[in-house]
Amino acid sequence: MTARIDFRSDTVTTPSEGMRRAMADAEVGDAVYDEDPTTNRLESMTAELLGQEAGLFFPSATQANLAGIMAHCGRGDEYIVGQTAHAYRDEGGGAAVLGSIQPQPLPNEPDGIIDLEAITSAIKPDDFHNPITRL
Ligand SMILES: Cc1ncc(COP(=O)(O)O)c(C=O)c1O
Repeated sequence: MTARIDFRSDTVTTPSEGMRRAMADAEVGDAVYDEDPTTNRLESMTAELLGQEAGLFFPSATQANLAGIMAHCGRGDEYIVGQTAHAYRDEGGGAAVLGSIQPQPLPNEPDGIIDLEAITSAIKPDDFHNPITRL
């Protein structure tokens, strides 16, 4: 029989036996005091892999996306985002709801990118009538 793979979403995946074992056997500790060796290792490995000075583990991608937007923008700022981006379309408008950050959605090209000219033209002029395009 041919193996079938479900590509509808990453959310339909379930952990393998090996993944379950790794979770159950993981060394754990208090993450608030930086005493969780597994989380610490994951964060430093990821930072190194991506060439960043530090990494931060979030238990959900929605939370990570929201924290990323809120780290860059304040109340009344706006972020430019593709109309098909998960953070814009599928996360309950979290940036607006929790951060008072307005999205400026732009169309995505067929390959998912946003046209650079479109981004440049969407950046609002420095005028007190406008939100500040921050991200
Ligand atoms: C691209 C992308 N971002 C964010 C999420 C949200 O992830 P989570 O369910 O961990 O909040 C998903 C979930 O499928 C996703 O595919």
